[in-house]
Amino acid sequence: MTGPACTDPRLAPPSGRGLDGAAEGGHRLRGTDSIRRMGLIERYIERLPFAATDPIVSLNEGSTPLIHAPRLSDRVGADVYLKYEGLNPTGSFKDRGMTCAVSAAVREGAEAVICASTGNTAAALAAYAARAGIRGVVLVPDGKIAAGKLAQALMHGAEVIALRGNFDEALRLVRQIADAHPIALVNSVNDFRIEGQKCAAFEIQEDLEGQLDALCIPVGNAGNITAYWKGFRELHAEDPSVSLPRMVGFQARGANPLVRGEAVAAPETVASAIRIGNPARWEEAMTAMTGSGGSVNDVTDEEILDAYRFLAREEGVFCEPASATSVAGLLKHGAGIEPGSDRQRIACVLTGHGLKDPQTAMDESTPVIPCEPSLAALEKVLIR
Ligand code: F0G
Repeated sequence: MTGPACTDPRLAPPSGRGLDGAAEGGHRLRGTDSIRRMGLIERYIERLPFAATDPIVSLNEGSTPLIHAPRLSDRVGADVYLKYEGLNPTGSFKDRGMTCAVSAAVREGAEAVICASTGNTAAALAAYAARAGIRGVVLVPDGKIAAGKLAQALMHGAEVIALRGNFDEALRLVRQIADAHPIALVNSVNDFRIEGQKCAAFEIQEDLEGQLDALCIPVGNAGNITAYWKGFRELHAEDPSVSLPRMVGFQARGANPLVRGEAVAAPETVASAIRIGNPARWEEAMTAMTGSGGSVNDVTDEEILDAYRFLAREEGVFCEPASATSVAGLLKHGAGIEPGSDRQRIACVLTGHGLKDPQTAMDESTPVIPCEPSLAALEKVLIR
């Protein structure tokens, strides 16, 4: 497929050259196919439960950058990379699972999809339901989801139900509704979600040529760590020279059921995305961590916010607080590096974009500097 022909004279280059071709010696614009970001299912169709003839609901998700983090690497004494999932279409890794879950729901003839959510799944569901032209319904804990996520869910036309309860209660209710009524449940208890999200493991191993030593990842409902572990195992089964990284999970101190070994009745943390007390994929997450030689630990809200600011100010990467949990955990607990071993390669999953939660960003930053519109006033505030 080539791009549309340029017919608008205002867009024509000054020399009259077409957009597809350049005069001799000039810059040649590449065709759109070679640079366009392919959707996740299209990119990995051989590894996913879809056929080329299936209806695919996609927003060109996935293929997010793996960014080397030099300052973090110095602090940790390893090569640390950031898997920047905030660059997905709705700003979080949930789009990977949602393209699969909504495509499968449409294939099965569903006319409505539902989820419980701390915000990001709701935003992704809303966008993909809009794209599919089906009804989208989300249950979110009242007053506990970040502003950007709520704006997305509303803007995409989902029915947003603010539950006077927490995520765990919302998940229990949507499971009951989906059992009793013809509405497809697209939380990560839905296996299609795991299938989509496992593809992030493929991307990381492609970028690092199969040499990843450890993956640091925030754990909430435990779908994502389950998905990555599945992805890594599939690659390793096909080609044993591709490493099986240690899966190193981190939770917020106030929402740390996996660390405690028991459900937390009233989870609380600044990282609202992972404010979850009873993860649905509990057993699978534990299997991923123990089976890979990894571990699960927790970090305080203060440690999360320190890592959140550090990433923004020193690495230039803005993620939401829950995402910074992976880096906070790495800084506090490490990633199981043996002393004296070769320099390790570690990837931290930054699950969602910083713009999702503008309020926390403002709260954690210095205030803006007011200034009168004169040179003297500007000098007064700038020149020290
Ligand atoms: N990071 C972010 C930004 C999230 O939104 C979530 C989960 C996680 C990490 C944890 O991933 O649940 O697979 O262990 N958010 C869900 C939601 C619960 O509703 O958006 P997990």
